[in-house]
Amino acid sequence: MINQRLLACAAYLHGTFLCDVGTDHALLPVYAVQNRLAEKALACDIREGPLRAAEQNITKAGLSDYIHMILSDGLQNVPPVGITDIVIAGMGGETIMHILETAPFSLEKINLIFQPMTKAELLRKWLYEHGFEIRNETCIPDKKFLYAVMQVQFTGNIIIPDGKDIYFGKMNLYDENALAYAKNEFVRLSRIRMQSYLREGKNPPLELNAVIDSMADALKEYDKI
Ligand SMILES: C[S@@+](CC[C@H](N)C(=O)[O-])C[C@H]1O[C@@H](n2cnc3c(N)ncnc32)[C@H](O)[C@@H]1O
Repeated sequence: MINQRLLACAAYLHGTFLCDVGTDHALLPVYAVQNRLAEKALACDIREGPLRAAEQNITKAGLSDYIHMILSDGLQNVPPVGITDIVIAGMGGETIMHILETAPFSLEKINLIFQPMTKAELLRKWLYEHGFEIRNETCIPDKKFLYAVMQVQFTGNIIIPDGKDIYFGKMNLYDENALAYAKNEFVRLSRIRMQSYLREGKNPPLELNAVIDSMADALKEYDKI
């Protein structure tokens, strides 16, 4: 069964040819083709085990003519022709950054959807600094955790992000989940700052103060911290 995280990724699809990187059981490509969110798809994974599970699900759904599997580290073995949407979901932010850094073809004009399980802030910072724009972002609860799902486009415009850009991205903080996510991030960083005063007896780096101030300013507009 497809979960809320993957449904949120699917909601950002708007092309005809999906490439799902780290597909595991191919739940997303099967859902996307069945629901006409894509006409066809590539289900890619770095390991053979997940691709065997993917094959079973694709065959069971009768979609072998529409979803092809590729054994690939990131996009290395993926032929770029015709791909309109790329989803990279369910892995760490640093792995997603690595896959983008080593992409063997231009990602311009492709609708990109990322769902990091960890280190979303590092991924956002990297995206801003490498000419990718986060166009939309939602926050999805899954098994007691809150996860970011982002829709991204390569524009070539480099932005120096501030704290709220890095930690909140494009989330709509009027949304209850997004506000909870933003507050968690604010509290987490504030604790790190406090620890550097209390345990290490030293002033936190100026950048950390600037990041926390930017987050506090953004949060003030939505809620009392
Ligand atoms: C936790 S599963 C996520 C499955 C699905 N995308 C989701 O979000 O539910 C992560 C999958 O990514 C694959 N993976 C990890 N690193 C990868 C890489 N560099 N390239 C392709 N697949 C990768 C793993 O083998 C695994 O099947």
